[in-house]
Amino acid sequence: MPHHDEHGTRKEAREEGRQARKLLARAQAGSSYAAGEPILEVRGLKKHYPLTQGVVLKRHVGAVKAVDGVDFDLRQGETLGIVGESGCGKSTVAKMLVHLEEPTAGAIRYKGEDISKLSGRALKAVRRNIQMVFQDPYTSLNPRMTVGDIIGEPYEIHPEVAPKGSRRQRVQELLDVVGLNPEYINRYPHQFSGGQRQRIGIARGLALRPEIIVADEPVSALDVSVQAQVINLLDQLQSEFNLSYVFIAHDLSIVRHISNRVGVMYLGRVVEIGSDEQIYEHPTHPYTQALLSAVPVPNPAARETRERIILVGDVPSPANPPSGCHFRTRCWKARDKCAVEAPELAVPAWFAAEGGPAAHDSACHFAEEKQIVPSDERP
Ligand SMILES: Nc1ncnc2c1ncn2[C@@H]1O[C@H](COP(=O)(O)OP(=O)(O)OP(=O)(O)O)[C@@H](O)[C@H]1O
Ligand code: SF4
Ligand SMILES: [Mg+2]
Repeated sequence: MPHHDEHGTRKEAREEGRQARKLLARAQAGSSYAAGEPILEVRGLKKHYPLTQGVVLKRHVGAVKAVDGVDFDLRQGETLGIVGESGCGKSTVAKMLVHLEEPTAGAIRYKGEDISKLSGRALKAVRRNIQMVFQDPYTSLNPRMTVGDIIGEPYEIHPEVAPKGSRRQRVQELLDVVGLNPEYINRYPHQFSGGQRQRIGIARGLALRPEIIVADEPVSALDVSVQAQVINLLDQLQSEFNLSYVFIAHDLSIVRHISNRVGVMYLGRVVEIGSDEQIYEHPTHPYTQALLSAVPVPNPAARETRERIILVGDVPSPANPPSGCHFRTRCWKARDKCAVEAPELAVPAWFAAEGGPAAHDSACHFAEEKQIVPSDERP
């Protein structure tokens, strides 16, 4: 019945408009959101890519569980580092946060409102506030566009942020903010170094004056000497523009200097999350302990006493993850229970009662047991 449909659509449009206005108002309230409050709450987030067989008649034969139940908060004004080995789902999480991928399940709450299923105007209002900086500054910038057009491109979608007449000036300001000469506005990406290109990527990320920046391995493709400069720039921009960062990296040493809190991912899940001190000084998850044992220690005395945990075996395929705890096939503490029951991400009871730095979220049945099998006894 067409009459009904039309009525439904109009009602939906009205509802969407109402939601858009509400979100817009909240987004504009921006800096009034108190420091430390969760600006993003991610709950049970999943992304399963269907696996199909056959060319013509595609049959569904399973799924790649790229992200398989991720929980974390991003607090206003903080930097949350997310680390984990290649393929554990970091980029997929990043893409869902900025709406480049649609979650299979779960919620992404921005200032209390689930944005994962938004569309239309409401989505547009939110997207403006959550921007992404990509890993590879060599491929993420269109080689045929000038730097001015690259940085100013978001204004085509959001002309309200910078009306046509003011765009050039705005882009030049952005170049200046990221430490590039504003006169470079007509140059092309190939005329810049890797570090400079990443600055261009950051300027584009800032163009719409977002509140949240999701940076997916923003320095991994850069020389070590340039990495520090780009990290310092991000640090400085954070306080200048009151930004909250999700900062993704391969290893724990890169995020250490910039993160307030760190989440460790393994095979589509967050296995441990806590403050800088909690994760680096008092890790309770066997996987985090293994990652940290591989980080070089400058102090020779500490090096002597420290145990090295070498992770054996490869990361299992996300199309067929181990039952129970995903880490169990590589864990030296694994027992029968680990194959049957998936551990919850929560503060282990004993540590919770004790208080202290070990009292933070860890997804391990035996997190409380410190015992680590010495390397010569391991199979
Ligand atoms: N579009 C897709 N279709 C099917 N599988 C995908 C797709 N995108 C990612 N995957 C798979 O999902 C898993 C997680 O990928 P993702 O890129 O999120 O990992 P990552 O942690 O960012 O890895 P890296 O450190 O290498 O960047 C991988 O096994 C990957 O092959
Ligand atoms: S739950 Fe079991 S397999 Fe998983 S990390 Fe803890 S001890 Fe290891
Ligand atoms: Mg990635």
